[in-house]
Parts: sequence; structure tokens; C-alpha cells
Amino acid sequence: MNTIILLGAPGAGKGTTAEGIKAKTRYVHISTGDMLREAVRNGTPLGREAKTYMERGELVPDDLILKLVEARLQEGGRDESYMFDGFPRTIEQAKLLAQLLAKFHAKVDYVFFLDAARDVLIDRLTGRRICRECGTNYHVRNIPPKREGVCDACGGELYQRPDDTEETIVNRLNVFRKETEGLITFYDEEGVLVRVDSAQHRDKITAEILEMLEELAGP
Ligand code: AP5
Repeated sequence: MNTIILLGAPGAGKGTTAEGIKAKTRYVHISTGDMLREAVRNGTPLGREAKTYMERGELVPDDLILKLVEARLQEGGRDESYMFDGFPRTIEQAKLLAQLLAKFHAKVDYVFFLDAARDVLIDRLTGRRICRECGTNYHVRNIPPKREGVCDACGGELYQRPDDTEETIVNRLNVFRKETEGLITFYDEEGVLVRVDSAQHRDKITAEILEMLEELAGP
């Protein structure tokens, strides 16, 4: 069981990079943001509780997130290798993840920190469009669909995430600085942090990470 983490501010390209890695490996992609959005769509008790935090760009409480992650790891067990996207987001979550992995005799192998400047992040988030049907990610200028508003992959309608408004983006970036940035030092001290320039083309980012993953046994 290998475990990698994609760490980065909102808009750094965690989801986009995860898609690239998934296409070339057997890593199971665990995005807590996607899991929460699904819970909100389905109107579950967890989704109803998480919605208010997400709309404001605040972090959802650690105990709710941990329940989600633990349930997902128990489904797959030791035989899978995992790629976390958007988790952990606090030191507390990182410590709880380490405890959870220890139950499977596993540990975090690499944390890829996708590093980009604030103006790049804001441009990416305000321009992001997502397919309602298959979830494919676009950007109005950087990664445009062939037909405006229509997904190339499945023909579905493209929409803008409700937390991609300028006001919420600014709050999300502030929350990243206050709550999540400390993880860079935390994982650097553990010797597993790898910095990746996320202003590069997405294919270069994926290639850089895949090269490092070749060193790990497994998928
Ligand atoms: P989450 O869904 O995790 O959102 P986020 O961290 O804000 O990150 P994003 O999904 O916005 O950005 P990304 O880095 O994935 O970038 P993307 O690849 O899409 O979380 C949402 C909310 O859920 C949180 O605010 C919080 O409330 C809650 N939550 C989630 N996890 C939690 C946790 N663990 N604890 C507590 N609360 C939690 O790319 C962005 C755009 O840029 C796209 O348009 C893309 O096409 C474009 N792009 C990407 N890469 C490139 C590139 N290399 N070149 C050019 N364009 C690019």
C-alpha cells in the first residue's frame, strides 16, 4: 500500500494533476472536496452540515472529514494505493492520517506540494469550469473546451463551482495560509515533501510526479 498526497492552495491544480496520475497508474484518488460535494448533492446529514462551511470557504470540522476518509480506506483496505487530494488540511488531520495508515502498516510515502503564485491561483479558480455529468475540469482560457459551455468528453453542461466567486476564493486562500500551510514544514521535517512548480504545463507536472512514483514499488 503506497500513499501519496497532493498538497496545495485552492487552484494549485490538485484535481487536474490527480486526473493525470490516475490515467497512468492504479492509485485510488481520494478527494475530500469531491466526497463532500457529493454528500451535499445527495442531501445527506453530513452534506447538510458541510455545506455551510464550504459556501463560506471555511474548513469542514476534522471529525467529519476523518469519518469520510476512514470509511473509504476500510472499503479498499491494504491492497490499494492511495492518492489524497485536499486532505490532510490541518496538522491534526495529518496526525490522524498517520494513525489511520499505521493500522494498515502503511505510511505517507510522498507529499507533492504544488506551488503557484497567488495571481495564478485566482486566475485559475475564476476561470475554472466543470462538467456536470463526468466532472472533467476546464479553464476558460488555459484549458478551454472545443465548444463553449460543453464538455469535450461527454457533451455535458459546464458549470462554475459556487465557491469559485472572488470573495470566497480570497477567503479560501486565507484559510489555506492560516490552517494548511504549516503542513509544508510538517512534511518537510518528515522527509517526504517534494516541491513541484505548479505554474508549469499540467503534462510536465504529471511527468515529474510519475518519475518519482517509479521509485516506489507498486502501482
Ligand atoms: P476542494 O475541493 O479540495 O477545493 P480546493 O482545495 O479549494 O482546491 P480546488 O479544487 O479549488 O483546486 P485544485 O487545486 O484541485 O485545482 P484544479 O485542478 O481544479 O475543497 C473544497 C471545500 O471543501 C473546502 O473549501 C472546504 O470547505 C472543504 N474541504 C475539502 N477537504 C477538506 C478537508 N480535508 N478538511 C476540511 N475541509 C475540507 O485546477 C483549478 C483550475 O486551474 C482548473 O480550471 C484547471 O483546469 C486549471 N489548471 C490546473 N492545473 C493547471 C496547469 N498546470 N496549467 C494551467 N491551468 C491549470
